[in-house]
This record gives sequence, C-alpha cells and structure tokens, in this order.
Amino acid sequence: MLIRPEELSVREMYGHLVAMITPRPIAWVATTSPAGVVNLAPFSFFNGVAAQPASLCFSAVNNRDGSPKDTIRNIEATGQFVVNMVPAALAEVMNQTSFEYAPDESEVTAVGLETLASLQVRPPRVAASPIQLECQLIQVVKVGSGPAAGNLVVGQILLAHVADEVLDENGKIDPARVDTIGRMGAADYCWTRERFALPRPTGPSA
Ligand SMILES: Cc1cc2nc3c(=O)[nH]c(=O)nc-3n(C[C@H](O)[C@H](O)[C@H](O)COP(=O)(O)O)c2cc1C
Repeated sequence: MLIRPEELSVREMYGHLVAMITPRPIAWVATTSPAGVVNLAPFSFFNGVAAQPASLCFSAVNNRDGSPKDTIRNIEATGQFVVNMVPAALAEVMNQTSFEYAPDESEVTAVGLETLASLQVRPPRVAASPIQLECQLIQVVKVGSGPAAGNLVVGQILLAHVADEVLDENGKIDPARVDTIGRMGAADYCWTRERFALPRPTGPSA
C-alpha cells in the first residue's frame, strides 16, 4: 500500500500517522493560563531532544476550527509547562483529562487530581506521577496552518522530580517500577512491562 497524504482527508491521514508511529510515549502536560487556571492534557507526539541542554518536545495539533489548544495558548503566554510521565495506574484519569474542557475550567479540578507546587515554574505537578519535569519554553515551531496543523513545543528541562519508589538499589530509574504506558493507533495503548536488552554494536557486522 502506498499512502499519499495529499489524497487523504486530514482525519484519514491522522489515523494512518498514529498507527504507523508506534509506540509513542505520553507527555501529560500541565500549564497555567495568565489568569491562573491550571490546564492538564496528554500528548503522545512527544520525545526527548537533547541532553545539553536537557530538553524535550511535544506537538499539539490545532483544533478543528484551526485555533490552538489551551496548552499551546498557555505556553505561548507564559513560557512554562510541566511534563508528567504516565504510569499504567493513571491511564484512565489521564484519558479523562483529554476531554475538551472550557479554557476557564481546570481538568485537574474536574477529575479530582492532587497536584504539588513546582519549584521553578508556575504550573503544578501531578502528585501521583512518579516523574515530573519542570520545563521552560525554548521555541514553538509552527508546522502548517489551520485545522490539525502542528505546534511543536521545544522546552528545556529545568528540574526533574523522580519519586524514590521508582529507583533501584543503585539509585537508577527502574522502568519496571515507573510502569509507563505507550500510545498505539486508534484507542489502543501498550504496556512497557516486557523488555529486552540489546547492547550497542562494538563494530560493523560481519
Ligand atoms: C493518550 C493521548 C494522547 C494524545 N496526544 C495528542 C497529541 O500528541 N497531540 C494533540 O494535539 N492532541 C493529543 N491528544 C488530545 C489532547 O489531549 C486533547 O485535544 C486535549 O483536549 C487538549 O487539551 P487542551 O485544549 O486543554 O490543551 C491526545 C489524547 C490522548 C488521550
């Protein structure tokens, strides 16, 4: 099968895209509006960018009417956000926060999530998330315009909070204890409970 994006509707292409690029990690992004309303939403177009500076990126596509999502409006207005990682235990409540609440309504209050104050940015952290990353905006890269166009947020990690419970005996982050979930196509998710190690090659294969 050949997929030619220009022959498909936005909806069809989106369906293919999320089925082709799998599994995707999930950034559960907290922002604060200039008026102080806390916004929380998941984004699976998400990954790391660099270690120097420690940085990450995620993309929020525009709403159907072409307007940017609340997360983007808040980040563009304040330059700050917090990325919370999502363990399996938080899957359902994370999903609830993807409902389109009005800009003046906080997802955090609507779903009854406990938050903690951040140390270096205004948006709070999700208390139950084992890894919370306080971030400062570096750049929003606009990809296209109108409905479903991308807003790629690149941010610097100012401070990472890692729960002691997810550390192993050597103080390293133990993926089994973090228990993150990944996003697949359609409404599907995956576990990260089965893993295998593959050391990097030390030379070209024979
Ligand atoms: C697991 C999951 C992953 C999602 N990933 C994205 C994404 O990468 N980009 C995007 O624009 N929307 C994504 N969404 C949808 C947003 O979370 C949803 O549009 C949300 O209402 C945006 O909130 P906001 O308008 O408060 O910013 C995802 C939803 C779920 C449940």
